[in-house]
Amino acid sequence: MRVLVTGGCGYIGSHMVRVLAQSGHEVSVVDDLSAGHLDCLPRGVHFTKLDVRDVLVRDLLRKQRIEAVLHFASRIQVGESVRDPRLYYRDNLSAGVGLLEHVLDAGVRSFVLSSTAAVYGDPKYTPIDEAHSTEPINPYGQTKLALERALADYGRAYGLKYAALRYFNAAGAWPEEGLGERHDPESHLIPIVIEAALGKRPALTVFGTDYQTPDGTCIRDYVHVRDLAEAHLAALVRLEGGGEGGAFNLGSGTGHSVKEVIASVERIGKLRVPVEWGPRREGDPPVLVAQADRAANQLGWRPSRALDEIVESAWRWHSRVG
Ligand code: UFG
Repeated sequence: MRVLVTGGCGYIGSHMVRVLAQSGHEVSVVDDLSAGHLDCLPRGVHFTKLDVRDVLVRDLLRKQRIEAVLHFASRIQVGESVRDPRLYYRDNLSAGVGLLEHVLDAGVRSFVLSSTAAVYGDPKYTPIDEAHSTEPINPYGQTKLALERALADYGRAYGLKYAALRYFNAAGAWPEEGLGERHDPESHLIPIVIEAALGKRPALTVFGTDYQTPDGTCIRDYVHVRDLAEAHLAALVRLEGGGEGGAFNLGSGTGHSVKEVIASVERIGKLRVPVEWGPRREGDPPVLVAQADRAANQLGWRPSRALDEIVESAWRWHSRVG
């Protein structure tokens, strides 16, 4: 298949590009390199430095006869989205709608959106299925949900086939391929714990120890980034085969607390993690775990890598990047 990956130089997008290339698909990448790294692309992938809104994207879709678009390019920081929401309405929502103009104009058949569990807002029950109400509590979640709604409307009106993949906590790396998490600044738990263990930062601050969870720290559903990439491929195959699209949770159904993540890093790295016990971070739900039966039943997808494997791959990546 001829596939365009936007944000293909970013964390999840770069893993996606590898999975597609290794499965024999023709891959084209559009990335403005505002956060991505060009050195993560393998040979044989067509790269264009562009903003997804640029009309040249429409020309590229036509010229390269792209059949499907996987849209990863976006801002990803919840806290930043609260402080400076215009960035998210502009670069996630407006840019996404702009890209969809090109997709429709060029007659692309299928579209897969990188979405998030943040569309649900405060969980009313757990594990969360796709029927859970969608009431985002920050502009990051709001703008992803708005784009999902545009896709649903465009699907009905214009026949665009789409899947919105709602990730829970993406983590892990693919060190053999030189791929890993390189956010600046880093805000995600697993890289921060590893950096603290390796002495690259003074300590990890644990945000809250008084939650109603067995050990008092927050529980999350960590999914290996390679598993996420494989889910996108499964979604693409399903859409192209005429199967039903829509929203899919991507999670394992198993939650791990912050303390469990620290213990995993200490076990794998054989080093102590310096920890400071801090107050709660605003907006963190105590438990966020996916019910991902829809992805299992309709996409035939289940994550195959558990927490220790996620941490082990991230550990090797972080030890190597120095
Ligand atoms: N945490 C710490 N210390 C840190 C960083 C994180 O204790 O320095 C804790 C958080 O409080 C949370 C857990 O580790 O309990 C995981 O935090 P992350 O920041 O790694 O991830 P989040 O669960 O906050 O965010 C994830 C996705 C977002 C998505 C969100 C949905 O990364 O894209 O879930 O709520 F929006």
